[in-house]
Amino acid sequence: MIKKCLFPAAGYGTRFLPATKSMPKEMMPIVNKPLIEYGVDEAIEAGIHSMCIVTGRGKHSLMDHFDKNYELEHQISGTTKEALLTDIRASIDAASFTYIRQKEMLGLGHAILTGKELIGDQAFAVILADDLCINQEQSVLNQMVDLYKEFGCSIVAVEEVPENETHKYGVISGEEIRDGLFRIENMIEKPEPGSAPSNMAIIGRYILTPDIFDILEKTLPGKNGEIQITDALLEQAQANCVLAYKFKGRRFDCGSVEGFIDATNYCYENIYMKDKKRTNL
Ligand code: UTP
Repeated sequence: MIKKCLFPAAGYGTRFLPATKSMPKEMMPIVNKPLIEYGVDEAIEAGIHSMCIVTGRGKHSLMDHFDKNYELEHQISGTTKEALLTDIRASIDAASFTYIRQKEMLGLGHAILTGKELIGDQAFAVILADDLCINQEQSVLNQMVDLYKEFGCSIVAVEEVPENETHKYGVISGEEIRDGLFRIENMIEKPEPGSAPSNMAIIGRYILTPDIFDILEKTLPGKNGEIQITDALLEQAQANCVLAYKFKGRRFDCGSVEGFIDATNYCYENIYMKDKKRTNL
């Protein structure tokens, strides 16, 4: 039902300077795997095989990562190290990758609108790769795809955050229609201290119905002068229905240094070391 996943990846990643001066934030590795590859694997697990990536200046390594590197592969062919490429080869084989360039960084809403040509007239998923989501049983996007099958409307993933951090997020409020599932009534992008409608913050997983593109085309710059997906979603929620889903699993804000370190420690212990023991590499 959801066939395409959009990855807005054109941002400057200023919180991670100087590392992101010439390297895309999405290519920063959590242990030995770049953030974008975790996102692609999550989409594949959710049954999606078409990856649409919104890129910008200096993001060539993103494209190279999802391509063959004949020289390297020839060099390590037949050695034990070849096994280190097994996962990325499987991801490349399981999906197609298309790219479009966002010419100006006018905000997340604008980046999503830029993806319209790749998505077309169908509901689609959005993954912000710098939000790393991990759940051992069912991935966060897969949980959302299941909900989309049931409700057929836009869905955003939310997480409760401390009140003194709501100003960093889009924050929602709404009626709880089922345990952990809310029909959105209000949402504010990066609310001023004391004006957040709740402590439920939108994180980087969305399922969007294609009418969002018509709304985004008319959405004026909002907070920080950027075209905000939150503003477009509020309009969609008022005209129709948008759900907020308190997902099962853990989320790491890998766009911040603290979140990146937490994710690295978590993945080293819970994924990398377990795999290493299993494969003996
Ligand atoms: P962020 O604000 O978290 O990313 O945008 P950023 O701008 O790269 O990072 P900082 O704040 O300067 O450190 C959320 C997502 O939206 C994408 C980013 O790449 C990121 O995945 N984005 C944002 C775009 O693709 N285009 C934009 O114009 C803005």
